[in-house]
Amino acid sequence: MDFQLTEEHQQIREMAHTFTQNVLKPGVIDRDRDMIHPTEFLKQMGELGFMGMMVDPKYGGGGMDTVSYCIAMEEISKLDASCSVAMSVNNSLVCWGLEAYGTEEQKQKYLTPLAKGEKLGAFALSEPEAGSDATSQKTTAEDKGDYYLLNGTKNWITNGGKADTYLIIAQTHPEKGHKGINVLIVEKGMPGFEIGAKEDKLGIRASDTHSLLFTDVKVPKENRIGEDGFGFKFAMKTLEGGRIGIAAQALGIAAGAYELAVEYSKVRKAFGTEISNHQIIQFKLADMATQIEAARLLVYKAAWLKDQHKDYAVASATAKLFASEVAMRTTTEAVQIHGGYGYVKEYHVERLMRDAKITQIYEGTSEVQRIVISRGVLSGKTLD
Ligand code: CAA
Repeated sequence: MDFQLTEEHQQIREMAHTFTQNVLKPGVIDRDRDMIHPTEFLKQMGELGFMGMMVDPKYGGGGMDTVSYCIAMEEISKLDASCSVAMSVNNSLVCWGLEAYGTEEQKQKYLTPLAKGEKLGAFALSEPEAGSDATSQKTTAEDKGDYYLLNGTKNWITNGGKADTYLIIAQTHPEKGHKGINVLIVEKGMPGFEIGAKEDKLGIRASDTHSLLFTDVKVPKENRIGEDGFGFKFAMKTLEGGRIGIAAQALGIAAGAYELAVEYSKVRKAFGTEISNHQIIQFKLADMATQIEAARLLVYKAAWLKDQHKDYAVASATAKLFASEVAMRTTTEAVQIHGGYGYVKEYHVERLMRDAKITQIYEGTSEVQRIVISRGVLSGKTLD
C-alpha cells in the first residue's frame, strides 16, 4: 500500500492550483453573482488538457488515470465549483461514456473534439418527473427505421445551453421498462431541439443549467450508443464514474473552505489574541481536517479501484455520500469561523457553502447513494 502521490500527480495538482489562482480567482465572485458562464476559461482548460483527462491520446485525451482527474477536480473545486462541474460532466459522463461504449466513428466524430475541449458535452437523464427514479423516462425515441424521432423534456441539464454534443436518454420500448431505454447523441442545432429556460440556482451559479426541449427531432440511427435498449445501463455505468468526479468536487469545496478558515483564524483577533489560539477554533479545525482527510481517502480509493478495473460501484457511491456531507459540514463551519465576514461574498466561504449543497443532489442524491451502497453491501460486495 502506497499513499504517496506520484510526481505526475503532484505536477497536475500544481498546474490546476496555478490556473485556479491566476485565471479563475479574479472574477469568480462576479461570475457567481451574475450567473456568467466561464466559457473562455473552459476553452483554456481544454488547452491545458483538463477536459478529456482520462481519454486515450489517440482520441485527443490526456491518457491519465482517474486519480489525476480527481486531483485536478479537487484543486479547481477549492475555488470554482461552477467550472469544475462543467469539467466533470465533460470528462466523466460524456467523454467516458463515448469512449467506453461508442463506435469508432462516434469516437472520431464526437469524442475527439470533446476530449480536446474544442467542444463541450452534456448528459441528459433527469426529467421533470424522473430524478432519483431514473427508470421513469417520459422522453421518447420512437424507432422510425433509419432514425429515431425524439420527443420530450429534460431538466436541470449541466452545460445545457453551452454544449455542442448531448447524450440524451430516452424510452423506445415502454413495454420493456428500463430495458427499452436508449441513449442517443444529439447535436445542438438539430431541427426541433430547443434550449429551455436557464435555472437561477442557489449555488454553482456560473454553471449553465437548462431544460432541453425536443419536438420531433430526427436523430440518425448511427447516433445510438450501444445495442438497442442499452440506454439505462449506459446511464448507470457512466454515473458510477461520474460520482467519483463529484465526490472529488465535494472534497475540493470542503478543502477550499477549510484552507480559508485556517488562514483567517491566524489573522483575525478576538479577546486579545488570534482566534487560532482559542481551543474552540482549534477543535473546529481539527474536526474539519480529519473529515477532509477521510473523504480524500475514500475518493482516491474509488478512483484507484476504477483504474485497477475493479468493481467501483459501491466505492464511488460511498465516496460521494461521505465527501458531500463533509462538504456541507466543513463549509458551514468555515462560515461560522469567519463570523460576520463569512456571511458576505468577498470572503468566498458563503459561496462554497452554497456550492456544497448541490454535491448532495446531483449525480444521485445522498439517498440514492445509500440505495446503491446498501444494495451492494447486502448482496455481499465489499469496498475492496
Ligand atoms: N451498472 C450496470 N447496471 C446497473 C447499475 C450499474 N451500476 N445499476 C443498476 N443497473 C441495472 C440493474 O441491474 C437493472 O437491470 P436488470 O433488470 O437487467 O437487472 C436495471 O439497471 C435497473 O436497476 P434497479 O432495479 O436497481 O433500478 P431502480 O429503479 O431501483 O433505481 C437507482 C436504482 C440507483 C435509484 C437509479 O435509478 C439511480 O441511480 N438514480 C439516480 C439517477 C442519477 O444519478 N441522476 C443523475 C443525473 S445526471 C447529473 O446529475 C449530471 C449533472 O448535472 C452534474
